[in-house]
Amino acid sequence: VENTKPGQYILTIDQGTTSSRVLMIDHNLKVVDIEQREHRQISLHPGWCEHDPEEIYANVKECLEVISLRNNLSPPAIQALGITNQRETVVAVDKTTGKALHNAIVWLDKRTSVIVKHFEEKLGGDLNAYREVCGLPVNTYFSGVKMKWLIDHCGEVKKAHEEGNLFFGTIDTWLVYKLTGGKTILTDSSNASRTMLMDLKTLNWSDFMLGEFGIKKEALPQIKLSSSDDYGIVSSVECLNGVPITGVIGDQQGACLGHLLKEGEVKNTYGTGCFILSNVGKTPVQSTHGLLTTLCYSLGEGHTYYALEGAVEIAGAAVQWAKSVGLLTSASELEPLATSVSDCGDVYFVPAFNGIFSPYWRDDARGLIIGISLNTTRGHIARALLEAPCLRTKEVVEAMAKDSGHVIRKMNVDGGMTVNNFMLQQQADFTNIAIVRKRETEVTGIGAAIAAGLKVGFWSGVSEVEEKIKVDRVFESVISAGERDKKYKRWAQAVQRSIGFGW
Ligand code: G3P
Repeated sequence: VENTKPGQYILTIDQGTTSSRVLMIDHNLKVVDIEQREHRQISLHPGWCEHDPEEIYANVKECLEVISLRNNLSPPAIQALGITNQRETVVAVDKTTGKALHNAIVWLDKRTSVIVKHFEEKLGGDLNAYREVCGLPVNTYFSGVKMKWLIDHCGEVKKAHEEGNLFFGTIDTWLVYKLTGGKTILTDSSNASRTMLMDLKTLNWSDFMLGEFGIKKEALPQIKLSSSDDYGIVSSVECLNGVPITGVIGDQQGACLGHLLKEGEVKNTYGTGCFILSNVGKTPVQSTHGLLTTLCYSLGEGHTYYALEGAVEIAGAAVQWAKSVGLLTSASELEPLATSVSDCGDVYFVPAFNGIFSPYWRDDARGLIIGISLNTTRGHIARALLEAPCLRTKEVVEAMAKDSGHVIRKMNVDGGMTVNNFMLQQQADFTNIAIVRKRETEVTGIGAAIAAGLKVGFWSGVSEVEEKIKVDRVFESVISAGERDKKYKRWAQAVQRSIGFGW
């Protein structure tokens, strides 16, 4: 039977670092169906990471087609499409041909460390000099340095930039462009806030920052303030042509919206990395403890919230690494192995494979496993691996508490790893914060659905959405303050040894 009853579902594309997924979401915020495709991680040199944008688009298109076919969906049943995406990753596109001129340079790619050094010299050693404008330190992580690298190192990009035929986009821009058959070149304020090129106060491209990076404004997409707005109409996926794209939001901000994060509230998403954001209200707050000032989310004029963000570079990626070196045969082996021992046996695993982000921002950190003795088993190493994102998260929430002057008592969590009860119990133990898991764990995709759905009246407003978000379980600490402090001191020693080990 053809599923054509109008306005039954929102589809969301969750384009992440390792895979692309399409989620089919109903009025009750229930994820009814999911389709997923992984894409290649292309690394030409150590520390480099590229994605093929055409491969990503082909995967997204296939997921959309498979979901539509499997559920007999046609456009009237799908009221709108939302997009949420890995942030900072940059695509350079020739406007005249619509072709990407280079692979996408991914957020965790380190090739721009030379550009960062150049800025360090220019700014008299102060990599925080631009924070007042864009909220971010100069770091390889953000899009601006990646765009500059492409102009400096890729002849075709340089030429197209000079001739006015280029646009740079984060993945949201690329997907909107492709899905609308090249009709719109847009981004939203949350994605733009990750480039270093947007002025956080005006929420427009900053002429000053563009000058510092040597990037022309015409090479950038138009910024839409609201993540819930008209971003174009699908015209290149036959079974979905005519569906409006009305939600665009960076994935971490998508999770904030998916939790309907209010002022003073905090969320942590455990994906490739961990990204902890706290909603600080309608005015940006500068960090003095190594956090980022960024958009939380905007639902339009008067409904724009800022965040302090702690970015932890590696979480789930450490599990992938453990599989690749044969420490684990599958991800599901991790929890039983980690709980086969009663503690970590004083082994610590700092997964700073490619440098360390918040609050240190040191490219010269490297991964380490420390404290190994003759008694150390695979179980201890697995346990240390599972403890690492929780301890990195503790570092971030400590910095957040210092920046805001408030003790954090509750943290909303989501992402693939949060199915792991043992890990969330450790998170509660190490931080002494109540850890709240929602019934629907696909919070990022739900955030994009909320953005898309609110624009087209799929829900009457935020309060209707709020009623549908249900808590699954709350984890509270069961360890003593003494145990917690002892653990954190050992961890801090391990982190200090990892910093400075790399080049
Ligand atoms: O800033 C990078 C972040 O957006 C990546 O998210 O879910 O792909 O690990 P994820």
